[in-house]
Amino acid sequence: MTKTRIPLAGLLGSPVSHSKSPILHGYWLKRYGIAGHYIPMDVAHGDLPQVLDTLPKLGFVGVNVTIPHKEAILALADLVTDRAALIGAANTLIFREDGKIHADNTDGYGFIENLRHGAPDWQPKAGPAVVFGAGGASRAVIASLLDVGVTEIRLTNRTRQRAEALRQEFGPKITVVDWAQAGNVIEDAATVVNTTSLGMVGKPEFRVPLDALNPASVVTDLVYTPLRTAFLDAAERAGCTTVDGLGMLLHQGAPGFERWFGVKPEVDEDTRRAVLGA
Ligand code: ATR
Repeated sequence: MTKTRIPLAGLLGSPVSHSKSPILHGYWLKRYGIAGHYIPMDVAHGDLPQVLDTLPKLGFVGVNVTIPHKEAILALADLVTDRAALIGAANTLIFREDGKIHADNTDGYGFIENLRHGAPDWQPKAGPAVVFGAGGASRAVIASLLDVGVTEIRLTNRTRQRAEALRQEFGPKITVVDWAQAGNVIEDAATVVNTTSLGMVGKPEFRVPLDALNPASVVTDLVYTPLRTAFLDAAERAGCTTVDGLGMLLHQGAPGFERWFGVKPEVDEDTRRAVLGA
């Protein structure tokens, strides 16, 4: 790639029309005066190899990857970071100058950064973490909680078997709790996380009772549409510090932007407003 080319990045997924990533990266490009573009691309699974072959030739320096390609993309990358391998999925690709494709996963990083910014007093090691849900998002949350030194993660999922499978994979720091019992294991939690889709616009409400929460818990929801979920409202009523899920989206985007465009973008109120207001 010649240096005079305008750098391009984008999003590979299907669908991509509802993603906020183009707004986020578009905002940062403008804010930092970078002559680049971030383009959403709806791509079918079977076309991925050809797309990955073509994009660098067109001036793309990398892309984000979203549903349904986050797992399959690993097999198409030349290099996979440890954290992407551990999570079993990638959300950020770097097209290197030597032609190699580098796959990383910044979801766990975004999750932790969001908590650190949203709850500066958060002490992840002060007690167990309770994680609701055992899907793809949960894997990134679990990996990152273990990475910051959490010694016990109580994992609960409607389908218990999926939680058991994650325990097999991530080891004995994970304990599986029955979905019906989840409300009984939150009392001493330092961290409580909803990774399920419950509470999202168009999905059923989150109904696990949260009365036992203690005010020292930091509670976060990965759902950010709506921004204030019933889950966060219940936590707030219990006196907990709550952190909404939008920040995770913003923070997970930062490492990719920096690698592609050479500027470390700030995640601040203006960034939030830009993404919310669009
Ligand atoms: P993601 O990649 O966003 O985590 P996913 O892999 O489809 O998406 O996982 C969705 C999560 O929401 C799962 O934990 C799922 O529970 P199941 O494994 O039992 O399906 C959870 N979930 C979705 N709808 C739910 C519902 N009505 N009640 C309880 N949990 C639900």
